[in-house]
Amino acid sequence: SDNFVNLSDFYEKQILDLIKLSEKFKQGYQVYLKEPVYVANLFFENSTRTHTSFYMAESRLGLKIVDINTSTSSVKKGESLSDTVKTLQALGTSIEVIRHKTTGWYSSIIKDSNVKTSIVNAGDGAGQHPSQSLLDLMTIYEEFGTFKGLNVGIIGDLSHSRVAKSDAQILHKLGANLYFSGPREWYDSEFDLYGKYDSFDNIIDKLDITMLLRVQLERLNEDSVNQFKANEYHERFGLNTNRMNRMKPSSIIMHPAPVNRGVEIDSSLVECSQSRIFKQMENGVFARMAILANILKNKKLLFEEITYE
Ligand code: CP
Repeated sequence: SDNFVNLSDFYEKQILDLIKLSEKFKQGYQVYLKEPVYVANLFFENSTRTHTSFYMAESRLGLKIVDINTSTSSVKKGESLSDTVKTLQALGTSIEVIRHKTTGWYSSIIKDSNVKTSIVNAGDGAGQHPSQSLLDLMTIYEEFGTFKGLNVGIIGDLSHSRVAKSDAQILHKLGANLYFSGPREWYDSEFDLYGKYDSFDNIIDKLDITMLLRVQLERLNEDSVNQFKANEYHERFGLNTNRMNRMKPSSIIMHPAPVNRGVEIDSSLVECSQSRIFKQMENGVFARMAILANILKNKKLLFEEITYE
């Protein structure tokens, strides 16, 4: 497809190819453009990692980057996201990388026959975060070389987490065993489709991957924010040294970041030897190169054929 909005649009082989292409870029592989290609980045929600790593990926691919300041754009005058995309297309951009708070913001845009530009989902509300999922898959694949049979625990604010949703769907499809934990009121029954809910203490010693989620206070209502107690959360649902000591020596810790140190995870564990948190960020640049290169290939804008091995 010319778009990248949801990893569930991809077959297993296509996902494995994207992981292999990400690894090739990490080893220094390069592709060359037939003509100048312009890409616009539109981040309507805050971002450090996704925005900057798309920017780095675009730079490394030789794309010309149009970084839009969304706070001074005409969206503030009421222009719709769809008309904004069509405007950028009229100005000459070929790929739009967008993060927006509306879940599924891309659905009507990709169905619109007047939209020819490629749409990349850099996060949609509490929906999906497919480029994060690809870098998570890459990080897991580097460690274990497979997904089948891995025990993956996703712990925290599941109901508000687009990372949890996209990772759970794709890891289940790829054959991992999924366990979910965290406050019951932040559990969503849609996760029953992919795995089991249990207490963190019941699952910690069998996990190959402990994936912690950020407590997203910005997505909670005022009452919930006022009632939230960081210490209590850390004690019941956080990764502390006691729980860490029960983890298998071969298991790894992941977190999409930003991290609330001392809430989801003890600050001293963020950079411990089993943590892959900063490796995930590093891999994000190469995963995003693969996503963009695949689109450029489909749009016939690359000189060479991409090989995935
Ligand atoms: N993991 C992630 O999406 O981080 P940012 O919000 O900083 O992009």
